[in-house]
Amino acid sequence: MNNFTFYSPTYFVFGKEEENRAGEMVKRFGGTKVLIHYGGGSVVRSGLLDRVKKSLDEAQIAYVELGGVKPNPRSGLVYEGIDLCRKENVDFILAVGGGSSIDSSKAIAAGVPYDGDFWDFYSGKKIEKALPVGTILTIAAAGSEGSGDSVITNENGMYKRGTGSEAIRPVFSILNPELTETLPPYQTACGITDICAHLIERYLTNTPDVVTTDRQIEGLLLAMIEEGPKAIDKPDDYEARANIMWAGMMAHNNSCGVGRSQDWNSHEIEHELSALYDCAHGAGLAVTFPAYLGYVWKHDPARLRQFAVRVWGVPDEGDDESVINEGIARFRAFLKRIGMPQTLGELGGTEADIDKLAHSAVYGNGRGGKLYGFVHVDEEDVKNIYRLML
Ligand code: NZQ
Ligand code: ZN
Repeated sequence: MNNFTFYSPTYFVFGKEEENRAGEMVKRFGGTKVLIHYGGGSVVRSGLLDRVKKSLDEAQIAYVELGGVKPNPRSGLVYEGIDLCRKENVDFILAVGGGSSIDSSKAIAAGVPYDGDFWDFYSGKKIEKALPVGTILTIAAAGSEGSGDSVITNENGMYKRGTGSEAIRPVFSILNPELTETLPPYQTACGITDICAHLIERYLTNTPDVVTTDRQIEGLLLAMIEEGPKAIDKPDDYEARANIMWAGMMAHNNSCGVGRSQDWNSHEIEHELSALYDCAHGAGLAVTFPAYLGYVWKHDPARLRQFAVRVWGVPDEGDDESVINEGIARFRAFLKRIGMPQTLGELGGTEADIDKLAHSAVYGNGRGGKLYGFVHVDEEDVKNIYRLML
């Protein structure tokens, strides 16, 4: 195991009706003037936004609001949010929604105290300082409620890029699984896929002897395989929703990734898909991940075999290739079972897009020609991986 530091100071409040403690939580973390930042309207329709405002009113905390965050959040609204916060002397950002609203909130939080263009942080510059961010989560998926990461799409070039810093890890996150019961099954499935992807990105490691985190990842994946279909079949299954919601946080706050190298090539390859086709991130991952595994397994057959046997229940008999292929087939079948797409075509893509996608993945926004993960892949490799999605 590699040396590591792990500091994950988010204060989690989990369970039914806990969103009514929003005011108390903002106060606890020193907020006096809040920007409530949310998406395209689900939180308005569900009445959540009104409950959050009531809670802030009761705690006598002033607020302004900015809605309209799109899935795959855009830079334009981030600039707008930064201007609004400066004008209104906002000192706390409260995200109400999913990964997109949370990521946009983190970008605003980092941009407000920074003199330059916030996009610098999504092009390699480290975030040193940010306003505190709190979240009220409405979809179990991205894990942004417990992570120091944020992903934004720059409308100038449509580059989808991420940043990571302790400075933008939420100070608190309120997780009420009931809030996720209004999700359409497709979005629920996208979330489950993203949670699985965050775990597998960490499973694909080149660090030996990481038994504890391997077992954590396997356990969480098995929980998703068990609980995922229950939430698809019965959207108001509170216990399934609760298990998925907590798994989503644990999959991505990096407790499963400490002390080991991680992959993330699939995420980079997927981000090109959600940038170009504006598909849901989870749907893009459902198409990307099986193709990627099929391309890279020879790098470490023992690890991929372990994945097939322990996670997908493939009998530990016969040659590596057949065991691994069966594991990938079972992974695909699971994704299909929960309603995820299987091909690039289902996302709106065609073979003609592959050159552009691959070029943007390895050279876009100043990249140097390779993605460095479990394996190092160049433009030709990435084209081959996209071809496996046809
Ligand atoms: O915008 P509204 O109207 O709220 O609708 C949203 C949106 O259309 C809807 N929704 C959310 N909660 C709902 C609901 N509809 C009904 N009932 C509810 N309770 O679901 C749609 C998707 O929302 P979004 O926030 O986009 O989903 P998600 O949490 O999957 O976030 C995706 C974004 O996170 C990024 C992705 O790339 C993508 O841009 N990621 C962020 C990460 C991070 N910060 O650590 C890591 C991830 O790997 C990921 O890349
Ligand atoms: Zn993801």
